[in-house]
Amino acid sequence: MKVILYMAITANGMIAGPKDDTSWVSKEDWEGFRSIVRKTGNIVIGRKTFDVIQKNNELIPRCQTVVMTWKKRNDTKDVHFANQRPKNIIQWIKNKGFDTVLVAGGGKLNQTFLEAGVIDEIHLDIEPKILGEGIPLFREGNFSANLELLSVV
Ligand SMILES: NC(=O)c1ccc[n+]([C@@H]2O[C@H](COP(=O)([O-])OP(=O)(O)OC[C@H]3O[C@@H](n4cnc5c(N)ncnc54)[C@H](OP(=O)(O)O)[C@@H]3O)[C@@H](O)[C@H]2O)c1
Repeated sequence: MKVILYMAITANGMIAGPKDDTSWVSKEDWEGFRSIVRKTGNIVIGRKTFDVIQKNNELIPRCQTVVMTWKKRNDTKDVHFANQRPKNIIQWIKNKGFDTVLVAGGGKLNQTFLEAGVIDEIHLDIEPKILGEGIPLFREGNFSANLELLSVV
């Protein structure tokens, strides 16, 4: 089971500006994101990202969506609300027949998965933008990771 984190970031590592502003994310990134969602068939997102997607009516290909939240919410046909450790969520997705998990933000969720040590690959689309305030790729935490550069496109 492979776990991929896919994210659009500014040159200084922000994934959103103040008030969840992601208007700077390019069309090319959105296409890249949709393309990888079509391949994996699933995404895992934090509850805040789920709310932003719904509020902005962002178009994401139909897929198995897992939303992490501490609160109890009822599942729908395509959306599973989970309050579990990342390893259990990955197992749940594996049991559904998928071979890759797409972790798709935001910063809190990314931090949770990084700290759990379950991310195999990080795909970053670096946009020509710098933001002094906003939400970082990983929310603050007691972690570090050594990475290997696989490719630059
Ligand atoms: N640039 C990009 O590619 C990109 C991609 C995705 C998102 N974003 C942006 O990222 C921002 C959101 O990031 P964020 O850090 O504020 O929030 P987030 O990671 O999307 O969501 C945080 C919420 O997820 C739930 N959660 C997180 N860890 C959990 C755990 N271990 N167990 C159970 N629930 C857990 C909690 O929900 P409850 O409060 O319900 O308990 C928490 O409040 C938005 O602005 C979004 O647009 C950008």
